[in-house]
Amino acid sequence: MSGPVLSIRGLRVGIRGRRGVEEIVRGVDLDVASAEKVGVVGESGSGKTLTMLSVLQLLPSPPLAVLGGRVLLDGEDLLTADARRLREVRGGEVAMVYQDPMSSLNPLTRVGRQIVEALRAHGTGDKVARARTREVLGEVGLPHPDRIERAFPHELSGGMLQRVMIAMALATSPKVLVADEPTTALDVTIQQQILELVSRLQASTSMSVVWVTHDLGVVAQLVDRVVVMYAGRVVERAPTHRLFAAPTHPYTAALLASLPGPEIGHRRPLHQIGGTPPDPSRLGAGCPFRARCPYAEQRCAEHEPELEERGAGSFAACWKDPGAWAR
Ligand SMILES: Nc1ncnc2c1ncn2[C@@H]1O[C@H](COP(=O)(O)OP(=O)(O)OP(=O)(O)O)[C@@H](O)[C@H]1O
Ligand code: SF4
Ligand SMILES: [Mg+2]
Repeated sequence: MSGPVLSIRGLRVGIRGRRGVEEIVRGVDLDVASAEKVGVVGESGSGKTLTMLSVLQLLPSPPLAVLGGRVLLDGEDLLTADARRLREVRGGEVAMVYQDPMSSLNPLTRVGRQIVEALRAHGTGDKVARARTREVLGEVGLPHPDRIERAFPHELSGGMLQRVMIAMALATSPKVLVADEPTTALDVTIQQQILELVSRLQASTSMSVVWVTHDLGVVAQLVDRVVVMYAGRVVERAPTHRLFAAPTHPYTAALLASLPGPEIGHRRPLHQIGGTPPDPSRLGAGCPFRARCPYAEQRCAEHEPELEERGAGSFAACWKDPGAWAR
């Protein structure tokens, strides 16, 4: 098997504040294979966005900065890439979609022109770029792509704009598509529809997809693997079916318990797990989940567990074996 397309290794991100540099992403490892779909899930503030922004060196810096680690794209370290190479990679080999389309689109330029310009920035000639723009607008299921092309962003609905963003991201045939949902995303049903669309479009290519969400239910049926983040770290990663059938971290188990039955759209948000997540920059010793964990014991307050293999492709950072969880 070939190595991962994208490999994040020991990524640490910090913020400079009154008390010096505080670490908020604390050693994240994440691998994405060719054509693989990975869901990155965790409550607000767990470090999902900062991790993904680091991949393309898009952190607001200062106050944020990468403190250590590597981000390898086909073996090439993007954290040491120069500005010219980063411009090539951004929106070319790695495309990012922020699910607030208005933050990424220019309100004064017709959407078709914006996709054409994105293609031209990566070396495509104008004529080919225009043909490709019409093609991708059709591929993402927008009716009358010729009309959409000429529309200004404010003339389109939120769902249509999300499709435009996906079209723009797919236009350059990236190796990796990263979609990051802000916590305020309103409608999990639309999010799921867009992920379904991306999965369909991706099926015939080797594009990899990283879907960042605070809602585990969104990715349940649609990704190959799930990575669960908590307080700036990965606390569990596992193949999706395995994670749902047999979670190996108490936090994942709590996320699953907070999902209602099959009906979607009325899901309780993750913060309905008792308690609130800690501020990753103000952690003491021990497991960061311990204040909310029903299985916490003395050693959980003393040392933070590392990710360890739990069989069947699962890894968890917990002192206790799931077999020992009190039921
Ligand atoms: N520009 C910034 N300045 C200061 N702190 C920040 C900044 N951006 C993020 N943080 C802090 O870093 C932590 C991780 O933030 P991040 O945005 O990565 O979380 P997230 O998992 O993406 O959350 P959400 O689900 O809300 O999008 C949070 O505690 C947040 O307060
Ligand atoms: S290490 Fe302890 S506190 Fe942390 S999740 Fe496991 S049992 Fe709970
Ligand atoms: Mg985020």
